[in-house]
Amino acid sequence: MKFKLEYPKEKWDAMFTKGKWDYLAKGQPNLEALAIIIKHLEKSEIRVLDLGCGNGGLAALLADDVRIKYTGIDISQVALDKAKTLFPKGRFICGNLDENPVPENEKFDIVVLGEILYYVSWQHVVSIARQALASRGELLVSLYRSWRSIILFIMLKILYGAKTLKYVRNSKGLKWIILRISK
Ligand SMILES: C[S@@+](CC[C@H](N)C(=O)[O-])C[C@H]1O[C@@H](n2cnc3c(N)ncnc32)[C@H](O)[C@@H]1O
Repeated sequence: MKFKLEYPKEKWDAMFTKGKWDYLAKGQPNLEALAIIIKHLEKSEIRVLDLGCGNGGLAALLADDVRIKYTGIDISQVALDKAKTLFPKGRFICGNLDENPVPENEKFDIVVLGEILYYVSWQHVVSIARQALASRGELLVSLYRSWRSIILFIMLKILYGAKTLKYVRNSKGLKWIILRISK
């Protein structure tokens, strides 16, 4: 069985157009947990980079905090158009994480990898996420409970010293793990 789920940009655009991922933008427990962690930072400005931001589920939960300077990157322009409506002051960039779409020389206090590592070359993406961290910045990773995420969970612990921050579950028993990787 292949580890990486290979969906081209056209497939993501088609799925977002059909509304397959609409539920993500309506609030998910893992995104709520990420938003709480980010908003707890005691900083006057919090630079957030959300890699594979999708249709703005996390952006929507951060939009009411004026301290947050949000950048979301995703391969799907359809998803980004929706995300922009949820956080009009956010910056949204269409790009492929298997390349490196992160604006050069920019640093962030928080970089988020929310349910994205199964679809990309994960070591490359963790590497660009870590490069984008400011000093004392933190990388937050959300993994939905599946065999892929168990492998990623173990690898992130071994290779990057990832710490488990939270286990989250919804009313149907679906589970997520939130991990933190420090700079
Ligand atoms: C399951 S969704 C998660 C979206 C969002 N992070 C969330 O948790 O609601 C996966 C997202 O990854 C994006 N994606 C997949 N492959 C990508 C790539 N190579 N580069 C950038 N984004 C990608 C998809 O367009 C989609 O928005």
